[in-house]
Amino acid sequence: MTAVRGPALTFTGDPFHDGLDATMVHEPDAIVAMADGKIVHFGPAGRIAPLLPAGTEVLDYGRDALISAGFIDTHVHYPQTPMIASHGAQLLDWLNKYTFPTELKFADKAYAREVARLFLRENLRNGITTSCVYCTVHPHSVDVLFEEAEQIGLRLAAGKVLMDRNAPADLLDTAQSGYDESLALIRKWHGRGRLLYAITPRFAGTSTPAQLAAAGALWRENRDCLMQTHIAESQDEVAWIKELFPDRRNYLDVYDHHGLCGARAVFGHGIWLGEPEMDRLHTSGAAIAHCPTSNFFLGSGAFDLGRAVRNDRPVRVGLGTDVGGGTSFSIMATLDAAYKASQLNRQSLPAGHAYYLATRGSARAMYLDDKVGSLAVGMEADLVVLDMRSTPLIDARMATARDFAEQLFIQMILGDDRAVQATYVAGQPVYTKP
Ligand code: GUN
Ligand code: ZN
Repeated sequence: MTAVRGPALTFTGDPFHDGLDATMVHEPDAIVAMADGKIVHFGPAGRIAPLLPAGTEVLDYGRDALISAGFIDTHVHYPQTPMIASHGAQLLDWLNKYTFPTELKFADKAYAREVARLFLRENLRNGITTSCVYCTVHPHSVDVLFEEAEQIGLRLAAGKVLMDRNAPADLLDTAQSGYDESLALIRKWHGRGRLLYAITPRFAGTSTPAQLAAAGALWRENRDCLMQTHIAESQDEVAWIKELFPDRRNYLDVYDHHGLCGARAVFGHGIWLGEPEMDRLHTSGAAIAHCPTSNFFLGSGAFDLGRAVRNDRPVRVGLGTDVGGGTSFSIMATLDAAYKASQLNRQSLPAGHAYYLATRGSARAMYLDDKVGSLAVGMEADLVVLDMRSTPLIDARMATARDFAEQLFIQMILGDDRAVQATYVAGQPVYTKP
């Protein structure tokens, strides 16, 4: 058994639904004890310390730390790591000008592995312990990511992108080959250790109706897989999808009609969804991945979070970095952008709600909240330890913070990778800030 000690933050429920008082746990001096990859004790140090076996090593991070469940990224493209910060285009041009040329390079498996390593290293440096990842059309792009993630022991979902039109010929599969290759990857990887497969039609713009139907059939036959795609990200995209699928009621109906809407579906962006689509996401149990740095970078829009989680028909919402449309692996930077997206919708996202979104809320979006996303006995021992005084400016600002809510808010507005002091996966330290 090993243990860490320090201030801790976690959630026992959904603050958007039940309020922070009923759902947020802030323990000023906690111990988290871990064994066999799971949390075996969690609570006030005074109560937990006597329960630990004699000789248990307790690493004390001190008063200026904050221990949390590891961050969860519900929408990210690992192959786009090398093209983050590519200038001057909105979504559809950006895909053609930067994304597809980069993804073509993944025909080289050794290159794919190099990028997978860089990607996972960045995740750990930023306290991200679970993510839902798009690979490329190449099946070996999935193999290398899962191989590298397995070595670290990560809980991670990923899938081979399905595209059979409107992309360079060398990035296309077919309805049948995409189905066959995805099925082979499911058999090889889904449920192996902590790894999960996500069936991944890129979006309706790059799949024919035949491919969407094949993806829907594959998901029906493998219902415990995740399913991820993009929806209603930019207004130009929405108009184009309407032209491609004139018979469908709305964008979500394109997916729903082909069996691609339900529990364990994660739809990226969803900025421009209408009320009937929100309603359908709610009743079907599907989730939206809110990707604010990407939405600002590509000029896509400001996602209305308050509307999505409205209490009469709440939609599950997780947080996504969406690298390389997104501009940072930092969850702090992503929460900073989420705060600003809410401001543009005349809402002020409280810090507690934001940290919920980055942890338990994202776990719930992926239907993993019984395994990761909170500090509780029996949960998998994935942790991030934050340094609440990581820069001179944050240190100075923290001196005037009046309460914990203010301290948390300072972190999400000013913090970045420097605020991540340590990351634990399955109870093992996998990153420590130099
Ligand atoms: N829509 C379809 N493909 C992509 C992608 O790679 N990134 C983003 N942000 N949107 C997309
Ligand atoms: Zn994306």
